[in-house]
Amino acid sequence: MRTPIVAGNWKMNKTVEEARSLVLEMSRNLRDIKGVEIVLCPPFPALLAVSAMLQGTDIGLGAQNLHWEEKGAFTGEVSPGMVAEFCQYVIIGHSERRAYFGETDEKVNRKVHAALSHGLTPIVCVGETENEYESGRTGEVVRRQISLGLANIDPAKAAGLVVAYEPVWAIGTGKASSGENANAVLADHIRPALAGLFGAETAQAIRIQYGGSVTAANADEFFSQPEIDGALVGGASLKLDEFTGIVKAAAKP
Ligand code: 13P
Repeated sequence: MRTPIVAGNWKMNKTVEEARSLVLEMSRNLRDIKGVEIVLCPPFPALLAVSAMLQGTDIGLGAQNLHWEEKGAFTGEVSPGMVAEFCQYVIIGHSERRAYFGETDEKVNRKVHAALSHGLTPIVCVGETENEYESGRTGEVVRRQISLGLANIDPAKAAGLVVAYEPVWAIGTGKASSGENANAVLADHIRPALAGLFGAETAQAIRIQYGGSVTAANADEFFSQPEIDGALVGGASLKLDEFTGIVKAAAKP
């Protein structure tokens, strides 16, 4: 049995002060919900404040990115060791980073290695664009992203990875995939690609989230699918009631 994991990707939203007031309410709402792993991923400047607020709760903290180098002349970047000072998780290879910041599968792979070597749980994002979806290339795209992004990972560490399947056409559009469609991509392509890298048993242990326009209203549709182990939530993770509703839906037995 895989424990579901729901992570809120705040993207470039919330100042430290705004983050504090949201987390104050969220930690009250979420701290007693069992049976689901909960992760908040605020922007870098809010990590210190939020990590202090989450002390003593089971709610995890994640960064939205990292660099693979330990330190040095990389202006504007944040190293894995700096992330690991506050966080247990890190989102890697989000489609916005791939589309706007030149993140290739090779860079994703370096980041995953760096995260694992610092004891961080990578949440590795994959997903096809609208054009790739419409031309029937979803399977090919996500298989490539998995096999290159997760190349040469120690199989002994692979079970701790989290993969997020986020079709780009569903992100921020209000046009979520159907639960059935997302489940089929996981069953037919993502888990088999993981099995090809790490073996069937490890592939069964890896949690795979769905992301893309998840709301409290449609969460059940995803969580009732056998392959979907939680969600990576964007817009709805900034709203107290929405995020609480999604977490509760994932926690249902
Ligand atoms: P939305 O939930 O806003 O569609 O964003 C999904 C996402 O990109 C999470 O990483």
